[in-house]
Amino acid sequence: MARPAVLEGIRLWPRTLRTRLFVILLAGLAIAHAMSFAVLFSERYIAARSVMFNTLETDVATSIAILDRLPAAERAAWLEKLERGSYSFVLGQGIPGNPALEADDAEIASRIQAAIGAKYPIEVESLPGGIRRLQAHLRLSDGEPLTIDVTPRGVMPVADWLPYVLLAQLSLLVLCSFAAVRLAVRPLANLAKAADALDPNSNTPRLSETGPREVAHAATAFNAMRDRIAQYLEERVQILAAISHDLQTPITRMKLRAEMAEDSIDRDKLIQDLGEVERLVKEGVAYARSAHGKDEKASRIDLTSFIESLAYDYQDTGKAVTVGELSDGAIVTRPHALRRILTNLIDNALKFGGSAEIEVQRSADGTVSIRVLDRGPGIPESQLKAVLQPFFRLEQSRNRDTGGTGLGLAIAHQLASVIGASLTLRNRDGGGLAAEITLGTA
Ligand SMILES: Nc1ncnc2c1ncn2[C@@H]1O[C@H](COP(=O)(O)OP(=O)(O)OP(=O)(O)O)[C@@H](O)[C@H]1O
Ligand SMILES: [Mg+2]
Repeated sequence: MARPAVLEGIRLWPRTLRTRLFVILLAGLAIAHAMSFAVLFSERYIAARSVMFNTLETDVATSIAILDRLPAAERAAWLEKLERGSYSFVLGQGIPGNPALEADDAEIASRIQAAIGAKYPIEVESLPGGIRRLQAHLRLSDGEPLTIDVTPRGVMPVADWLPYVLLAQLSLLVLCSFAAVRLAVRPLANLAKAADALDPNSNTPRLSETGPREVAHAATAFNAMRDRIAQYLEERVQILAAISHDLQTPITRMKLRAEMAEDSIDRDKLIQDLGEVERLVKEGVAYARSAHGKDEKASRIDLTSFIESLAYDYQDTGKAVTVGELSDGAIVTRPHALRRILTNLIDNALKFGGSAEIEVQRSADGTVSIRVLDRGPGIPESQLKAVLQPFFRLEQSRNRDTGGTGLGLAIAHQLASVIGASLTLRNRDGGGLAAEITLGTA
């Protein structure tokens, strides 16, 4: 599968369309979401910072003016009132710190200085410790030391519930992406399934033509294609039937003429060849009819006597057909069609394996399997499907001059699908072919 070059090296790149769409959609949405959140966050940060600086500038200047005018004894009582979220006043020298400041802190220092004016020169130091903390030292007019303790944290209080909201948003994104991907991919899977099961001969249900417009369109197109295929097949079969049928009369005439001709080797050969041609034509008609086997009425038959009578008919003419394990019971089916299927399978077993064994098995779920077994050469695994096609014969059977048109299995296959059964071929352990007809519940 061709992959974009960038993704070539990524082993984790998922293989299914469903997961790929999901990953792309979710990643895109999540990144876009994170970006807008980041923009919002930084906006708010900038706004909160400027609010902090503004209060520092206006309030600190007023507070220092008040403290300066108060008698030294009353100052302590006012400290608490003048305190704000990000700073407080301390009487005294404060704690010694590091006069080297970071850019942000230096800005705070210069703002305070600008606000309170040159009258009170300040020395700002940052305090060691985990949290960011500054102290600005100055002297009031009466020479008393005063310290402004600034804690620039708390600038951006984050609500406790914020992570939950983010989590809820993320789950919403996951759910929506999942739903969207499912919606997009499911019709594709349905289409593939329908194409897989496509068999114009059997009555598999049509694709539902409802849903979003594109999906409905695809389903309609698919159904139309199915109908066209069925129509072509029907036409092909009808042409075959017509030709085969029309050939019957001239062949019969030729046979009559040949039989009336003088005795000679050529005459016998001619009659023999005409017999071959007649058989081919009959098979052709039978194949064409098998596509329309729906005409026959279904009836209830006793499986054991059905199989046994079939085997007796062969044994009467000296053919090696035996009956193996039988599970009795009645089934409802179209007996002529079933008989025709089994005869074709038994004929093959006799022709290619020399003998045939019939087995019947009923499984727990009520399905009945009828198997025709032989010990012949079997069929190469790669050809097991192909031999079901009309006029398909394996190379070895052509060479072996076994005779036949290659229609036997095609007819059996077609009739099986007409009576709602399925035909499967497989090679047996120890050699030979097993042809199995599986009938649904009676
Ligand atoms: N039991 C089997 N063992 C081995 N090969 C088989 C067997 N049954 C069918 N085949 C192969 O499958 C081919 C197709 O079988 P099919 O019955 O359709 O045609 P056919 O027997 O050759 O001719 P027809 O049945 O029309 O007289 C055969 O030619 C043969 O090569
Ligand atoms: Mg055959």
